[in-house]
Amino acid sequence: MQVPEEDTPMLAVCIDETGALFLKHVPRPELRDAQLLIKVTATALNRADLLQKRGLYQPAHGESQILGLEASGVIDAIGPGVKGNWKLGSEVMALLSGGGYAEYVAVPEELVMPVPSHLTLYQAAAIPETWLTAYQLLHFIAKVKPNETVLIHAGASGVGTAAIQLVRLGRAVPIVTAGSPEKLQFTEQLGAALGINYKEDNFSEKVLQFTEGRGADIILDCIGGSSWEKNVSSLALDGRWVLYGALGGKTVDGDLLGKLLRKRGHLLCTLLRSRSLQYKAELVRSFTEQVLPLFKSTDSPLCPVIDSTFNMEDIEKAHRHMEENQNIGKIIIKIGSS
Ligand SMILES: NC(=O)c1ccc[n+]([C@@H]2O[C@H](COP(=O)([O-])OP(=O)(O)OC[C@H]3O[C@@H](n4cnc5c(N)ncnc54)[C@H](OP(=O)(O)O)[C@@H]3O)[C@@H](O)[C@H]2O)c1
Repeated sequence: MQVPEEDTPMLAVCIDETGALFLKHVPRPELRDAQLLIKVTATALNRADLLQKRGLYQPAHGESQILGLEASGVIDAIGPGVKGNWKLGSEVMALLSGGGYAEYVAVPEELVMPVPSHLTLYQAAAIPETWLTAYQLLHFIAKVKPNETVLIHAGASGVGTAAIQLVRLGRAVPIVTAGSPEKLQFTEQLGAALGINYKEDNFSEKVLQFTEGRGADIILDCIGGSSWEKNVSSLALDGRWVLYGALGGKTVDGDLLGKLLRKRGHLLCTLLRSRSLQYKAELVRSFTEQVLPLFKSTDSPLCPVIDSTFNMEDIEKAHRHMEENQNIGKIIIKIGSS
């Protein structure tokens, strides 16, 4: 990968017209009111990045065009109007609207979190987008209760591995689907009470067997179209089906509404990136209070799951790894030239 010798102040991953990624020097972001500038140590991949580089998921107006929905690093500058007690050089991690694949990123202070004390900045980069998404799905949207059964699709994904741990933390019962024995074994070690290979088995039959015919109280669904019918069959009466992705397509052909009606099912749809700053700030505040302290001890019940770590120059390789569905947990990118 070529790094052009331009006299500009930060290295970033850019996208060419074919969707290919390359490193380039670009201007550092300007620090706006109530923002912190983070010198980035690491970022992590998200499925949304794969769509954005193909022009299928654009950042909101006024947000960075650079990929990257999360980052960890140290505070490099504190903008005007910042209210919190932030210190230059402190280790932080942040939920971003974009811009994580670069040496510096500017972010509203409400979306910045301290790094739990025994975690490295590489581990911290695996937390913001994935854990906040899983926390939002379970607590802001589905409002999970103890002893409920939660069916988590793509159980070995970044979001899935965080969701398994958060369901256990909430004293509910996680059951998962995944596409290989290795992924299922990993999710079971992480706390899944049942793992179903959706490529080999009809997952709704397994869910009904496990719940003695009742069905799952909550389904966390990032698959959508290809498995809608099995999802309705898996849902308990009055169950909550949370749709937050469409890896299996967006179209539905059949009696979805009739079947959902008979289950008195709640279909709840959510996206995090397009939420207001106020909503994200409330999510970050709640997660920081309720969950972050539990990462702080070495015998913590929670751990960020890291699949692999790539240098920034190998960003194309890292994307291919995710495109081929090979990762279990998060793919981390070290920022800066190696
Ligand atoms: N709504 C939101 O705000 C929000 C926020 C973050 C992420 N998301 C969504 O959450 C999902 C997970 O994201 P991530 O970054 O954690 O993903 P990830 O780590 O890349 O894992 C995704 C996994 O999904 C499985 N998968 C892919 N295509 C599938 C299909 N057609 N049917 C069934 N399984 C399939 C694959 O595992 P197997 O080997 O098991 O098939 C793949 O490894 C994505 O859909 C993403 O868009 C939504």
